[in-house]
Amino acid sequence: MAIKTASGAPAQLPPAGRPSAGQRLWAWLNRRMPIQGFIEDQLTGYYAPKNFNVWYFFGSLALLVLVVQLLTGIFLTMFYKVGETSSFDSVEYIMREVSFGWLIRYLHSTGASAFFIVVYLHMFRAFLYGSYRAPRELLWLLGMAVYLALMAEAFMGYVLPWGNMSFWGAQVIVNLFSTIPGIGPALVEWIRGDYAIADATLNRFFSLHVVAIPLALLLLVALHLVALRQTGSNNPDGIEIKDRLGPNGRPLDGIPFHPYYTVKDIVGVGVFFVLFAIVVFFVPTLGGLFLEAPNFEPANPLSTPEHIAPVWYFTPYYAILRAVPDQRLGALLMLIAVMVFLFVPWLDRSPVKSMRYKGYWSRLWLTLFAISFIALGYLGLQPAEGLYVVLARIFAVIYFLFFILMPFYTRFESVRPVPERVTYHAH
Ligand code: HEM
Repeated sequence: MAIKTASGAPAQLPPAGRPSAGQRLWAWLNRRMPIQGFIEDQLTGYYAPKNFNVWYFFGSLALLVLVVQLLTGIFLTMFYKVGETSSFDSVEYIMREVSFGWLIRYLHSTGASAFFIVVYLHMFRAFLYGSYRAPRELLWLLGMAVYLALMAEAFMGYVLPWGNMSFWGAQVIVNLFSTIPGIGPALVEWIRGDYAIADATLNRFFSLHVVAIPLALLLLVALHLVALRQTGSNNPDGIEIKDRLGPNGRPLDGIPFHPYYTVKDIVGVGVFFVLFAIVVFFVPTLGGLFLEAPNFEPANPLSTPEHIAPVWYFTPYYAILRAVPDQRLGALLMLIAVMVFLFVPWLDRSPVKSMRYKGYWSRLWLTLFAISFIALGYLGLQPAEGLYVVLARIFAVIYFLFFILMPFYTRFESVRPVPERVTYHAH
């Protein structure tokens, strides 16, 4: 029977044995660049553990948010005018006059918070399944470098609208550097480029936010993925699937990344976009959590906002800073609270990786840590007085004990036997 096209006309098939134009183009491209080879090596030929659960959505979602931020950032930069006298007005102009400017801005401001939600869940997964343990220490350290770059990116981006919280937030954070013994005050002046947070500061933050840090982020994320490809993913059982290969040399408990996980990740992307759109279209400020009220007023060095607080993703650390009466010690503890994550691969001494097989103490401490992180996040948004400070001290102690005691409770608790193969229940 003759093959027909949709319009009913006979299809123009190439003579048998002769490649079609598309096939010839593909071959032409592949002779010049190993596209086919890349797909075979990295996607269809890359075997990932078959027991990934929802916690494994957040890596690809972080990639997605990175792209959203880059794209919306490019469009914002087309209309934003950096400068002490122009920044605030240009953001208002974007919100009111530029076609869909409000949408681009809200996508970008919501994207910043979404980035941290996704990255915090991504990191928590590593705590659940011991993904930072050997051989993935470098993967974890590169992830931490990404996290630090992301914090710098978010902080400088927040200063750009030159609202009153931008100004005072920058004032508080930049002044923290003055607590460094000896060089502190000179360093602060160097960072600001002036004797106060001013035009020079805004200009350099713009340059760093739009060019330098995004480039660093892209490079670090690429390295993060290269390191991931080298060791392969961990999984909820914390078993190395490369240790059990089938007759074809492929891991017995692995499945090709494409199409299985590309398709699965699309489900995560769908759910994410629904939640993201609800915030963007209905509650873009999220009651002051994603965009704070004082930032809808222009920067004013003569009027301090009633409570200076950073955006929610920094407040756990900010609460630790304010929990200590001595500013120098507070700043040091805050620094340690962030940097301590770097040491986790070596603090965890458990014979097993996954929380599924760890003992009672590991579970208890991880739960306490998660509670204290959220509680500190809440307390960092409240005024630093009375009961709030007392609670911040208690939760800060729990926060640090989680890390300090880790070598002991992970080593001495009794663990459950780890199965030979990953646990997988077909749906
Ligand atoms: C822009 C930010 C980031 C992006 C785009 C990103 C991307 C990814 C992707 C695509 C994966 C593989 C899929 C998955 O396991 O979910 C992954 C795995 C991983 N990431 Fe990230 N990541 C980011 C930040 C971080 C941070 C901040 C950390 C920790 C400090 C981290 C630690 C890890 C670890 C340990 C794994 C392996 C997990 C496992 O195999 O169980 N990542 N990352």
